[in-house]
Amino acid sequence: MGAIRSSVIVESDDFRANRAAHLELIAEFRALEAKVREVSGRADAKFRSRGQLPPRERVNWLLDRDTPFLELSSLCGLCMHEDDGADNVFGGGLIVGVGFISGVRTMVAANDSGIKGGAAHPMGVEKAIRAQEIALENKLPYVQLVESAGANLILQAEMFVRGGATFANMARLSAAGIPVVSIVHGSSTAGGAYQTGLADYVVMVRGRSKVFLAGPPLLKAATGEIAGDEALGGAELHCATTGLGEYLAEDDADALRIGREILARLGWAAPPARSPAPPPLYDPEELLGVVPVDYRKPYDVREVLARIVDGSDFLDFKPAYGADTVCGHATIEGRPVGLIGNNGPIDSAGSSKAGQFIQLCCQAGLPIVFLQNTTGYLVGVAAETAGIVKHGSKMIQAVANADVPKLTLQIGASFGAGHYGMCGRAFKPRFVFSWPNARVAVMGGEQAAKVMAIVAEEAAQARGLPFDAGKAAAQGERIVKRYASESTALFATARLWDDGLIDPRSSRATLAFCLDVCAEGDTRALRPNAFGVARF
Ligand code: COA
Repeated sequence: MGAIRSSVIVESDDFRANRAAHLELIAEFRALEAKVREVSGRADAKFRSRGQLPPRERVNWLLDRDTPFLELSSLCGLCMHEDDGADNVFGGGLIVGVGFISGVRTMVAANDSGIKGGAAHPMGVEKAIRAQEIALENKLPYVQLVESAGANLILQAEMFVRGGATFANMARLSAAGIPVVSIVHGSSTAGGAYQTGLADYVVMVRGRSKVFLAGPPLLKAATGEIAGDEALGGAELHCATTGLGEYLAEDDADALRIGREILARLGWAAPPARSPAPPPLYDPEELLGVVPVDYRKPYDVREVLARIVDGSDFLDFKPAYGADTVCGHATIEGRPVGLIGNNGPIDSAGSSKAGQFIQLCCQAGLPIVFLQNTTGYLVGVAAETAGIVKHGSKMIQAVANADVPKLTLQIGASFGAGHYGMCGRAFKPRFVFSWPNARVAVMGGEQAAKVMAIVAEEAAQARGLPFDAGKAAAQGERIVKRYASESTALFATARLWDDGLIDPRSSRATLAFCLDVCAEGDTRALRPNAFGVARF
């Protein structure tokens, strides 16, 4: 292999301008993440007055000290439903991420009960389902920190039916041989009671866990019966009488200690240590200056690779053929991968090359990393004559059916079928992250506006009516504006089109972490059973 030689001038005005623009975008999403913490933090005093730990502290206590925690979809649901993107930013009301508990890599999902009492938000439901999918696909134990007011009663129509999947998935995880642990810090009521009931292991907190189908007010309303919390579903009742709880903890910290102990005793093999790998020759910090935030400005994706892969070492595959589609082999923190990036629209040769390269990665069992920066497949008479539909389809077919782990980074444009061919969400990458400058849409706003203007003009002609150019221009403006707001990385991450926004500088560490998750999952043998473990 040969090391990529960078031709970027780090002292240039362009470099400085790119960096400043990236820093602004990073600051924007970090501020929103801080807002989620602040909103939840408004309830800290309430938690402490009850002798409880606030939700984020629970997560911190659960995880091994000084180990990485890959938080996912931190801005889920941004500007949707009750989330106003300003004073009330909720992150879906759920804290989700992959981290280590007693040395075991685990999927953690904690109700952010400082927000709406931990009630399930419609996008929070989607976030939980995605966390469960990741746990199932990568064979990660699933640990929930439960304190939830159940369904959001104001938004129930948006989530009730879909919400059932969170329960079905718990049963499927258990049946697949993946342990599910619920640590119940507070309310787990109505439908939410199954968050507890369907877990393989349940830890309850004395005086705080409340698990029942109907709490005191609902019971009184429904049947007239009057009963208190503890008698209906307190921790002592469940640990001594109903048998729903396995372990009775004295407080939150004790419950988390027990949770850690459960994980330690699973016999879940510790991940094999990787041998140290050489860092890239070029500082990942430079990624901010190398990549323009405006996707219309071209650059060589090898400049990105040079700041991500080990030793900047890259074996370019067919560099002169379909040259705008860059494929090649490298290692990321010691893990061999195939990489595919874009230096321009994907043409017929580029499609064929990528399709072939994907098959070669599958033949060798190599994970594939897609660095998406594409305005789509090449259009025009020459491209059509060269068979772009046929060749593009071959690439899309190869991506869809590749049976090796696929990881996608949306680092710029992600438009049209290029989004599909470069392994967008629907093509089931194991993980997909976006840089904050990413743009995802069926096409650019200007192009969409022009297309609609031409369609309107032709439709008027066909009907023999005069074409209203002023009306078409006004519609064009609206389309451009709408696309601008609906194609941002924030818009996409709110809808879980990715697994979260990352700072470009953490790309290497994030990819390495995800490659480890995939490698561990793919080598782990599970002991599945037909129905999941039931409490008899
Ligand atoms: N749906 C929507 N919002 C809810 C909610 C629900 N199910 N339960 C609570 N909230 C909201 C409250 O309106 C309040 O909103 P605010 O911060 O804007 O004022 C916030 O969550 C906190 O509620 P609060 O009751 O003050 O919190 P708490 O920690 O003292 O009590 C519960 C938590 C869960 C015990 C209590 O809120 C409760 O009983 N909720 C209803 C539970 C229920 O019956 N769910 C049925 C679901 S199927």
